[in-house]
Amino acid sequence: MATNPPRTLPASWYTSRPLYQLECRAVFLKSWYLLGPIIKFLPGTFVDYEFAGIYLTVTATPCMDPNDQRHNSSITVLDSTTGTPLRHHTTSTGLLSTTISPLAPSFHTFFPGLEGTLSTVDFTVRPHRRSIAYEGHINWKTMIDGYQECLHCQYTHPAFSLLYPPTFYAVKNHHNWCQHYADAARPDDGLFLYFLPNCTLKVYGGGMSLFRVCPTEDPGRTRMEFDYYNVVEGEEFEEYYKFVRQVADEDFELCETVQGNLERGVYAEGVLNSVKENGVAYYQQRVLEMVLEQHQEDRQQARTREAEEAAASTSAVEHAPGRHGNSIPNRAIVEASA
Ligand SMILES: [Fe+2]
Repeated sequence: MATNPPRTLPASWYTSRPLYQLECRAVFLKSWYLLGPIIKFLPGTFVDYEFAGIYLTVTATPCMDPNDQRHNSSITVLDSTTGTPLRHHTTSTGLLSTTISPLAPSFHTFFPGLEGTLSTVDFTVRPHRRSIAYEGHINWKTMIDGYQECLHCQYTHPAFSLLYPPTFYAVKNHHNWCQHYADAARPDDGLFLYFLPNCTLKVYGGGMSLFRVCPTEDPGRTRMEFDYYNVVEGEEFEEYYKFVRQVADEDFELCETVQGNLERGVYAEGVLNSVKENGVAYYQQRVLEMVLEQHQEDRQQARTREAEEAAASTSAVEHAPGRHGNSIPNRAIVEASA
């Protein structure tokens, strides 16, 4: 039996400010964020991040536990504005993730099964070599759309496609995270992951890269943040860096063009290929579900508030002095409605 192909999110979701405000509460405040391997956070240093308007600082202090042979520092993540500690999680192989609000569920509830996949890689053996951040004319989802499929690879990344032909490319969706396979017949061929909503991780050979797609108040402006790790340094690292930056620049240019077209109304909504774009379909569906859930929650809260206000008004009328004895206007009601 033929099934309907998955549909994309409407173009307005890439340009609307109110929709972004809703996404902040529906998706971002309820999610987990990959910050990096713990070796990035040297004792005595402070590393700052920002996700959806929440500023946070990661600090590491030397661990006094003599049994801790591996992770010799203790991590603290604080909301930089309020000073409130934020829940974070370090995997058994040294990868740090954080929440940005108490609304997020536990790490294992949000990313079931992820810990097992991450435990196959030791994240502490590739030193941090370089980070780069810049802002661009894109919506955060424009970039994730591109990351979650490889149909564009042959056209956009000619050099990359020669090295890694996209013939076998496949994406396996899990709850709130996706695993990409360059060659599904060789599942041990590196680790390529996406974490809802905006973090990614790639590990292959001696190199590892992470990027975060950080939205701003303007739905058409997004900050990209990349961290590069590698066992090699010097010229060998520069060769690697040149190659990965070329691929990143090609993606960025493509996404800015797509965003321009979305804003010009070239495209409104369409269908996705259920096999080749299953990663895009999955994450967009999750965003849609979370936004609709939030919208319903907001409506329910508004109805409860209205009912409470109506009950309070009725109560004020019923308990007002002279309600039945004279026609003096009830001050409580007048003040409440002023
Ligand atoms: Fe790409």
